[in-house]
Amino acid sequence: MGKVPRSILITGASKGLGAALAMACAAEDIRLILTARSTVALEAVKRHCELAGAQVSCLPLDLADEDSVEQALALVETAGLPDLVICNAGVFSGRRPSGLLESRQEQREQLAVNLTGTIHFTDCLAQAMKERRRGHLVLVSSLAAIQPQPDSPVYSASKAGLAAWGRALGEDLAAHGVKVSVVYPGHIESQQTAAQMGVLPGIIPASKAASLILRGVARGRERIIFPRHLFWLILVSNALPGWFRRWVNRPFRYHVAASEPPSHEEDG
Ligand SMILES: NC(=O)c1ccc[n+]([C@@H]2O[C@H](COP(=O)([O-])OP(=O)(O)OC[C@H]3O[C@@H](n4cnc5c(N)ncnc54)[C@H](OP(=O)(O)O)[C@@H]3O)[C@@H](O)[C@H]2O)c1
Repeated sequence: MGKVPRSILITGASKGLGAALAMACAAEDIRLILTARSTVALEAVKRHCELAGAQVSCLPLDLADEDSVEQALALVETAGLPDLVICNAGVFSGRRPSGLLESRQEQREQLAVNLTGTIHFTDCLAQAMKERRRGHLVLVSSLAAIQPQPDSPVYSASKAGLAAWGRALGEDLAAHGVKVSVVYPGHIESQQTAAQMGVLPGIIPASKAASLILRGVARGRERIIFPRHLFWLILVSNALPGWFRRWVNRPFRYHVAASEPPSHEEDG
């Protein structure tokens, strides 16, 4: 098994899976760049990582805002291109208890953060890695890319788009010494799943998901998929006739609890 590189950038590191990844990577001689919108929450993760001996810097980044992406890219260039970039940030929405699907605003936000903003940010880093002929990009997609969710259609589309882009990019960059891994996680304990009302089969803690991802990264896997049993069930379910597949999947339908959008104003 290979090793996880020593210089690592993680997007969406303020909470959930991103924070768990940061803490799992943190160690002596590791340089971490942590990004998210909530600088207050990022600072708390930073303190944890520093206790483990890592050298940490925090970078405010709103993937839905092109200027913010450009500013963050300029700062990364100044700080030095990391060896490993984990694009984990994402937003999730879905059917409300009222039965309504993702609103136009939620559709736009999911596509902007999960797909176009992540592509904008990552593509610039990918081109710099290509010139340097070294680096590893990790894109956190979802099993929803393989099994589109009728209760979160635009979220599923954003993750399928990201996975397709990552796989295409990986084919191109392989000849230039740059690796791309696409991660397809199932349910992970976080704010995202806390809002998901329904049966969440195979849900695992964020720390467990982080260690599965880092193991796949260290092994240089192009696709990191978990839990495996759910992946195989999805493949079988995708081969079923539509009416039967919908009947089998009926117990796993969900809705998303209505919540106030988080405020980042206090972060200044
Ligand atoms: N939880 C699951 O079951 C599950 C399953 C499959 C895939 N995933 C994917 O795994 C990743 C992490 O999910 P999670 O469960 O840890 O979610 P989470 O707890 O909601 O964390 C999402 C992270 O993304 C950041 N983020 C949100 N909007 C952003 C924006 N506009 N610009 C930059 N950063 C932004 C958040 O930070 P700020 O709010 O501070 O910006 C936060 O750090 C996501 O891509 C998600 O889609 C999750």
